[in-house]
Amino acid sequence: MVFSKRSSTSSLHLLLQLLVLTASVAAEDGCSGGKEKLTIVTYNTGLTASVPGFETRRLAVPSAIAETAREIDADVLCFQELWHEKDLQRVIQNLERNFPYHYSAIHSKVGVLRDDHTDQVSRLKKNASRRVAEYRDGTLWARDSEFGGNCSDEADQVMCTLTFCGHVMLGLSDTCRACVTLTATDLQTVVAECADYTTSVNRYNLPGLLVVSKRPLQAEYVSFTPDGGRALIERGFIYAEVNGAPVIVCTHFTVDITGELGFPYIEAGLPYTSYEEQQRAEILTLDTEFSGTEHVLLGDLNTGPASDGVGERNLTGEVPVNYALLESMGYQNLFLETDGRCTHCFSTNTIIQTQLEGKQGIDKAIDHVLTKGIDRVNNSAQRLFDEAGRGALSDHYGVRLDICVPDSRQIRQDL
Ligand SMILES: *[C@@H]1O[C@H](CO)[C@@H](O)[C@H](O)[C@H]1NC(C)=O
Ligand SMILES: *[C@@H]1O[C@H](CO)[C@@H](O)[C@H](O)[C@H]1NC(C)=O
Ligand SMILES: *[C@@H]1O[C@H](CO)[C@@H](O)[C@H](O)[C@H]1NC(C)=O
Ligand SMILES: *[C@@H]1O[C@H](CO)[C@@H](O)[C@H](O)[C@H]1NC(C)=O
Repeated sequence: MVFSKRSSTSSLHLLLQLLVLTASVAAEDGCSGGKEKLTIVTYNTGLTASVPGFETRRLAVPSAIAETAREIDADVLCFQELWHEKDLQRVIQNLERNFPYHYSAIHSKVGVLRDDHTDQVSRLKKNASRRVAEYRDGTLWARDSEFGGNCSDEADQVMCTLTFCGHVMLGLSDTCRACVTLTATDLQTVVAECADYTTSVNRYNLPGLLVVSKRPLQAEYVSFTPDGGRALIERGFIYAEVNGAPVIVCTHFTVDITGELGFPYIEAGLPYTSYEEQQRAEILTLDTEFSGTEHVLLGDLNTGPASDGVGERNLTGEVPVNYALLESMGYQNLFLETDGRCTHCFSTNTIIQTQLEGKQGIDKAIDHVLTKGIDRVNNSAQRLFDEAGRGALSDHYGVRLDICVPDSRQIRQDL
């Protein structure tokens, strides 16, 4: 479906580009020759209960985002880990005046959330509440002879469930399953966050993505596990076309929890044997869809290269073989070339330090705005949401990339 949309519009794009080639526009923003600046941002907000400071951060993040978006005159923003509808709505409300175009997996179309709150509540009640109650009482796994004797310590029950009970988790709805997995702190929080009947604004925005734009947007969500494959946390991407800009692919790749975190591979419903392999399949899906298209690929890609710089430029590789794969496909990373600092930084981020409870952590660059086939003249990149003193807002920092694209005002005039 993504393909047909793209090929049917490509000749129109060419025509538009030819039209604007003849126009000369003043280069106030570092772009010239009928081009204007497009500022693209990725930010993983980490708005889930297992990331420290959640209740405080979920109130601070939406306004901080709006403030930064205004300061840097952003055009398109790709957010990850906006799981809870409540948080998604706050971000949209804070941005909507200047960024009226938004899209997520719980939108019915650009700018409009789906109107199925009632369904959601009844769906939760019918299926998940019994499961979550069982989960809370410990009967969910105690009953199952396969793992019953292995999960006696209540403190370990959440992780124990995830590790040994993949097949039980697959009995939950996809949203409930992801919510339980990502809220894996204590059982009370799991119930409060994943089965909240006190409000109808309680949907789970699987897979946590939101695209927001100042300019008109066409957008579509595509899952990496469309049929059959069932992940603990479904992953996918939002494919967007912004007026006069290249294609934007906003995503959040699978995370490897076997490395630094030391867990085993716990997926029970997918045909892979490691997170590296699972993430590689996601990358190959994008390559199949977009290899012939100029585009921007951005998000928390959960993969990044090692680097032996000093301080925040001393990077530990994260699934580095998959980052090398992206490079071999022709993706370019201006932020790493020109700045090179981490985006998930133990050394400077107090949230990660809190999370590790005194243990030594590492610095990684895993949040990226990659370009493929895009003219790089006068592009620039910057790290965002990393101000010392304001207090970290997320366990991730954001990244901004400015590129030069055909002038959309000029296009409209020519038409
Ligand atoms: C790049 O920026 C310089 C300085 O603003 C400008 O003179 C030049 O035309 C720009 N080049 C392009 C291709 O936009
Ligand atoms: C549970 O513990 C028993 C005894 O230690 C072990 O034999 C069994 O493999 C464990 N079950 C699982 C699912 O790991
Ligand atoms: C809820 O349960 C019903 C009946 O068991 C089932 O048909 C439906 O697919 C379930 N819904 C979800 C979201 O799992
Ligand atoms: C870089 O980071 C690694 C892992 O934290 C550490 O062992 C190493 O000493 C650091 N190197 C420098 C030059 O700081």
